[in-house]
Amino acid sequence: MQVGLTHWQFLQLFGRHIPSGGPGELESNNPDERKRGDELVRSDISGKLEINCLSCHNAHPGQDHAEYAVQIARQNYRWAAAAACEFGSVKGIAAAQIDTYDPLMGDAIATTYRENTFDHLKKVFFDIVRKVPNERCYFCHSNLDLSKDGSEKWTADEDVLLAAGLSCVDCHRNGLDHNIIRGYEGEDAASKNPLAASTTCEGCHTEGRLGAPVPEHPGIPPVHFEKLTCTACHSGPWPDQKTYRTKTSRAHALGVHGVKKTDEMLPHIMSPVFARQHDGKIAAHKLLWPAFWGSLKDKKVTPVSMEIVKRTARRVIGRRMLLPSGDWPALTAEHITKALTLLSSNESMEGEPVYICGGKLYRLDESGKLREPEEHPAAQPYLWPIAHNVRPAAQSLGVRRCEDCHSTDGPFFFGDVAVDTPVVSERDSVKKMVEFEGIGAFYAWAFAFSFVFRPWLKVVALVSAGLIGIVLLLYGLKALACVVKTLAEGD
Ligand code: HEC
Ligand code: HEC
Ligand code: HEC
Ligand code: HEC
Ligand code: HEC
Ligand code: HEC
Repeated sequence: MQVGLTHWQFLQLFGRHIPSGGPGELESNNPDERKRGDELVRSDISGKLEINCLSCHNAHPGQDHAEYAVQIARQNYRWAAAAACEFGSVKGIAAAQIDTYDPLMGDAIATTYRENTFDHLKKVFFDIVRKVPNERCYFCHSNLDLSKDGSEKWTADEDVLLAAGLSCVDCHRNGLDHNIIRGYEGEDAASKNPLAASTTCEGCHTEGRLGAPVPEHPGIPPVHFEKLTCTACHSGPWPDQKTYRTKTSRAHALGVHGVKKTDEMLPHIMSPVFARQHDGKIAAHKLLWPAFWGSLKDKKVTPVSMEIVKRTARRVIGRRMLLPSGDWPALTAEHITKALTLLSSNESMEGEPVYICGGKLYRLDESGKLREPEEHPAAQPYLWPIAHNVRPAAQSLGVRRCEDCHSTDGPFFFGDVAVDTPVVSERDSVKKMVEFEGIGAFYAWAFAFSFVFRPWLKVVALVSAGLIGIVLLLYGLKALACVVKTLAEGD
């Protein structure tokens, strides 16, 4: 709402992937919203977007969330759930009707049911299950890692827990309140669910719930379980010298029909990033660099409303700059200067216009020239933890050697985190992983370097021990010879 979105506009953008009512069910009491494209009038036609229970609980393979997304785009809110289920279909477009259209009287938008849906008593069979099938959750919660080995689903392995036969709702459970267990450590304190404590990685594995193996972790110093989350060593893609890009279903419009499927399509999400979280532990994360036009006032940056941004961008970024792949347009310092100049002459701007991208803040100086980009908290990347995919034990960090992490160029400390930005001259810039881990880079390096010498130390120790042994042996032999000699002489 901060970017000037009304509930109505929010629904148009995100309605397809909110399973529950929320903004879809709110009544607007803001008289301002009435003016904006007469949204209240339009919502009389579209109806409310209520919780779609079927989006999780329908076990029939014909349940089609892509159709739901189509219905949202048409503003057919009250019809969307019927259209997405296996036996209903909806014709007509609410968005195309005139303001005076009455959905109760008119027939421009209508639901039809597949033949044989109803039996002779006019009853219908709904395949409703309590235990939601994984496929329902996947529609909104799935990832595609764009690794160098390609980005096809069949080239990636599944989460080991799911491959072993567990389903999402074995862990993510809830009662009627649908306050789903998230599985984060510390969640049990906040949640009323008695299972929450044993649904974290650690909780389940120390209790051996559902037959979870209790790990022994032989040889790993205990400090690691204080300083790292379980997911740091076990979850997400195996780290490489540089972060991968990941596409998530929710960030990529659920991949429905008509959505661009290119690898370059925005937004660009980086993973895995090993970063320190609030509890002081290092965990694997996904990361997004914010890029937006803002207004700077009292050192705070607030996003400029979408409408103003659109109008300004149209005058600065030509149609030809928009790439068919959906990647960033190639921005230069001139484009930014021009846009900021336009924004500063806009009357509805309250503060100083700025552009945030690639971890930096861009703004003009008094003479209207672009300053050197600055650091600013608003430009900091946004990170959220990765829980899945859990890799098999044999692919845990540290399984080969301690040098999986403690090496002077290992990705865990010294991998490159790609900095994503539309600014052409900054496209290749990176940050080092240690910057996110809150550990001194030199310290991590020096400590890692000590691992280079550890095998030498062993060799030195062995060699020394050997030498001492030989010396002792020589003396021993000498002594023995003496004894033998004495004995012989004593005869
Ligand atoms: C985002 C997915 C989702 C949506 C949407 C959803 N549910 Fe659920 N529901 C679940 C999950 C997960 C469970 C727990 C399953 C388990 O623990 O075995 C559940 C459990 C239930 C239960 C059993 C509760 C209990 O204590 O035994 C009922 C009843 C239920 N849902 C009804 C509904 C109704 C009615 C709606 C629509 C208003 C709805 N659900 C929407 C995911 C969903
Ligand atoms: C229609 C889309 C949709 C479906 C289907 C859906 N979810 Fe979600 N889920 C969301 C959205 C959107 C959020 C983010 C809301 C939030 O962060 O509070 C979310 C949040 C979550 C979270 C919390 C994530 C976090 O970062 O804390 C979990 C866990 C989760 N869902 C699990 C499930 C499971 C398990 C299922 C299947 C039973 C499911 N979801 C089905 C859309 C969906
Ligand atoms: C074996 C238990 C288990 C199973 C099975 C499981 N999860 Fe999770 N999930 C967790 C735990 C534990 C966390 C939180 C871990 C952490 O970050 O500490 C989590 C976190 C999440 C999150 C938020 C973090 C993220 O990675 O985005 C989502 C969304 C989620 N799970 C969805 C799912 C879905 C969808 C499925 C089924 C396809 C599933 N989970 C299966 C245990 C499980
Ligand atoms: C520093 C990295 C690291 C951390 C942190 C870590 N693990 Fe492990 N884990 C490993 C390695 C390496 C293996 C494989 C070798 C072994 O079994 O010790 C492993 C093995 C396992 C196994 C398989 C054990 C078996 O007997 O099959 C489980 C389960 C496991 N870990 C769970 C956890 C849980 C739960 C946590 C958090 C409390 C955790 N791990 C934290 C590195 C780690
Ligand atoms: C609800 C209980 C539960 C939760 C929560 C849970 N696990 Fe497990 N985990 C299991 C079970 C059961 C298995 C054994 C699966 C099998 O039969 O191979 C397992 C197996 C594993 C293994 C060994 C896989 C192998 O190669 O044999 C690892 C590693 C692991 N889990 C890590 C994690 C991590 C990391 C988390 C948190 C994201 C987590 N687990 C959360 C129940 C759980
Ligand atoms: C997943 C990456 C990872 C693996 C694998 C790993 N470590 Fe660590 N290690 C860390 C991190 C992170 C720290 C904490 C650094 C900090 O917070 O200052 C650490 C700290 C340590 C410390 C303590 C140093 C201090 O400043 O307190 C020792 C000792 C250590 N590791 C030894 C080992 C040994 C031995 C192995 C192999 C058995 C190993 N590590 C495997 C990541 C790893």
